[in-house]
Amino acid sequence: MKSYITTPIYYVNAAPHIGHAHTSIMADILKRNRTAAGFETKMTTGCDEHGQKNQDAARESGLSDHDYLAMRAAEFRRVFDMLNVGYDFFVRTSRPFHMEQVACIQQRLMDAGLIVKKQYTGIYCTGCEQFKKLSDLNEAGRCPDHPTLVLEELDELNYFLKIEDYREKLIAHIRDNPDFVSPPVFRTELLNMLKEPLDDLCISRPVRRVSLGVPLPFDAAYVTYVWFDALVNYLTNLGWPEPGYEAWWRSAEHLIGKDILKTHGIYWPIMLMAIGERPPRRLSVHGYWLGAGGLKMSKTLGNVVDPVEIVELFGADALRYFLARNMRSDADSQISVELIRQAYNSELGNKIGNLFSRAGKFAKSRFDNRIPKRGALAEDDERTREIAFKAAASFARPFEMHEIPQLSQAVVVAFDTLNSYFAEQAPWELVKKPETIERCATVIYVTLDSLRVLFEGLRQIIPTSADQALAALGCLPVAPDGQAWEPKLDRLEPGRELPEIEVLYPRITEN
Ligand code: MSP
Repeated sequence: MKSYITTPIYYVNAAPHIGHAHTSIMADILKRNRTAAGFETKMTTGCDEHGQKNQDAARESGLSDHDYLAMRAAEFRRVFDMLNVGYDFFVRTSRPFHMEQVACIQQRLMDAGLIVKKQYTGIYCTGCEQFKKLSDLNEAGRCPDHPTLVLEELDELNYFLKIEDYREKLIAHIRDNPDFVSPPVFRTELLNMLKEPLDDLCISRPVRRVSLGVPLPFDAAYVTYVWFDALVNYLTNLGWPEPGYEAWWRSAEHLIGKDILKTHGIYWPIMLMAIGERPPRRLSVHGYWLGAGGLKMSKTLGNVVDPVEIVELFGADALRYFLARNMRSDADSQISVELIRQAYNSELGNKIGNLFSRAGKFAKSRFDNRIPKRGALAEDDERTREIAFKAAASFARPFEMHEIPQLSQAVVVAFDTLNSYFAEQAPWELVKKPETIERCATVIYVTLDSLRVLFEGLRQIIPTSADQALAALGCLPVAPDGQAWEPKLDRLEPGRELPEIEVLYPRITEN
């Protein structure tokens, strides 16, 4: 079975921000999950390098377009590498193969009579790189997503793709495929957007205004509209149209923020239908991280939380954990350095890392540096490890992006249970009397083995620290290479020598 997971490709007009980090980390988590579930996986992320706002940024930088794009691509790659995003292919839309295929698609649509040239008057938001209707604007007459940008009034001849003819077919597709958009709230939103007839989609920009793009194959005075070009990456990443892409394409799952639901849920499936390809299997949509003051974070507003700064302060796992745990699927979520610090210290540090250190160090000091052998299980042991097992085992089946926060929550609950168990059993008392030593060994074994199975699940979210713990317990790899992970209890080897137990999440206070 195959699983092809994509992120949006990001505009390179500024450095990568938390929003970009979020979608790429979620894609990485899904890739790790599908790999653990035994799928063959391919995950892509990268840069959208054309269009007006990238062009403006390149010109402002004083670098050549080529050097500017290369500089940003390297920067995005560096940040994703830092975040342990295990992409299989890093997209750059300036790549010749991609550009050639975009031009081929344009020509095919032209030959099929689906493209018309006409005068267009309208307002354009460079932030969204989209034409807007008056009804899209806020009370101040600005784009709600980019309220600081002055909208441009354009009156020019352009090429348009006729998309209204596909509206009914698309509605039928969404109805016939209930899981095409998840979670369901965004499916409803998409169906609502499709209630009105669709305006023709502008697919060109005059070269005199925007030259950073794919030249139109049938008119050298124009380049391809950046969205048309960017969406095609999802096919060209697979080597489309060369054979071999089909099986991957059937499994395609696009992760997107809610801001780009219309482009992915309407324009893209229609473009695909128009060239005889099927729509992607699923659009998985997430909400927004809001910055200070509950405002949308954006490069234009300047209230972004910098992922690099967070990694330097707390490490990549802390950021991955916070994003995975706190993104709500029904509303926007808040993020700040302070909130991340709290989650890091109180959950990763106090609930997870601390218990690992205590139980590990106890085994070392009281059981001759070794994992003790357990005796018969009492009811409390059974109940506790069952909770840990269940929370971990939900990471062994393929899950969807919007389930990640609730799965993480179940893990936190399991750690709470395990902490209470450890406190109630009080192994430091049991160790004092010869008649309760065996009981003490059982408690330590159950605690360490429950931690072990939880870390096996958690490595999909916090790979570095989970693997550090698993290595100390002598439990890596968790499955033979290329095989599915099957969570089990009692995988710890009694008598195995433990190395020095490192603190997984050292406490970090403000300066
Ligand atoms: N280039 C287009 C996408 C083309 S895909 C064929 C684009 N780029 S973008 O740089 O603006 O990035 C958009 C994506 O970044 C969003 O859809 C979302 O995945 C992510 N985010 C950007 N800001 C965000 C938040 N504040 N919060 C969460 N994610 C957001 O649109």
